[in-house]
Amino acid sequence: MSEPVPWRMAWQSALYGPDGFYRRAEGPAGHFTTATHGGTGRALARSLWAWADRFGLDGIIDVGAGRGELLQHLYAWEPGRPLSGLDVVPRPRELTDAVGWVESPGGAGLPAGWRPDRALVVAHEWLDVVPCTIAEVAPDGTLRELLADSSPGSCSEPHSIPYSYRTNQSLGPPLSGADLDWCQRFWPSGFTSEARPGDRVEVGRQRDEAWSALLERLPAGSVAVAVDYGHTVADRPREGTLVAYREGHVVDPVPDGSCDLTAHVAVDSLRQTQRLRQREAVAAVGVPDHAWATVDPAAYLRALADQSAVAELRRPGGFGDFWWVIAQV
Ligand SMILES: C[S@@+](CC[C@H](N)C(=O)[O-])C[C@H]1O[C@@H](n2cnc3c(N)ncnc32)[C@H](O)[C@@H]1O
Repeated sequence: MSEPVPWRMAWQSALYGPDGFYRRAEGPAGHFTTATHGGTGRALARSLWAWADRFGLDGIIDVGAGRGELLQHLYAWEPGRPLSGLDVVPRPRELTDAVGWVESPGGAGLPAGWRPDRALVVAHEWLDVVPCTIAEVAPDGTLRELLADSSPGSCSEPHSIPYSYRTNQSLGPPLSGADLDWCQRFWPSGFTSEARPGDRVEVGRQRDEAWSALLERLPAGSVAVAVDYGHTVADRPREGTLVAYREGHVVDPVPDGSCDLTAHVAVDSLRQTQRLRQREAVAAVGVPDHAWATVDPAAYLRALADQSAVAELRRPGGFGDFWWVIAQV
């Protein structure tokens, strides 16, 4: 049995170490569905091209591209335009040749020497899997770093209660330095008289730095958009949001490489020029005219499917609540 380590470190090696979860052959889509898959992926791709056009950008780069699901949809809409993706695995075999691919280290790390052309850079559900410091209010009221037991284990069986996982962890030293500064500025509820033992803080500093490091790689005129679930200082979740997925189920977040580990993003502390909800970022599409159905039934059915995918992307309480954090470089 090894010494407990900060959760952030255990999380990094569980997802991106040599046997990390994101290196598995089945890819993230083998464990959970995102808006980049299927019909919503097609609708999202159309919307992203509209944003690229709005900013006068020719190409799109997908950071945290999974196995190229969104890239394939982007390619299907605009096959002639520059497209590339980054993820921690070698180029997926099924990816269209015309689409570029760069292997990346994982988490906050980006490939050494990677200097992309001016583009719209999309990070769809990347920042929520950039490991961050987790702190907890101790019985004496101090905010302490949460440690994980990094000894090998296995995720428990799928169950429906995401937060009953307190066995493999302990409280470490009081939070200090830059993490503490970040909390005082962006997560002040961890310090008020209302803070209760067991309250969690998921420190956004590591995501802020990863995002800023990405922006620093981009040439002037580029625009980056982080699309993710998150919160702002007005609605930080007291009990934290760390959760794990495996094979479509919520499981105990054990950092052993067998499950995804994700926590919502503090979207207001990221460098940005604009922030909106996905329901505002994706333009609504009207229901196609039924008269079309007899003239061109296939086109009518396609338009109907696209319309319902757009509605799904904009649905309050679902994908519509995702944040789009936009930074013009
Ligand atoms: C939650 S999945 C999202 C995948 C895809 N964007 C989607 O929305 O379906 C996060 C992805 O980000 C990738 N990732 C994490 N850190 C990365 C990094 N530094 N560079 C490139 N990809 C990274 C992971 O390997 C994983 O495929």
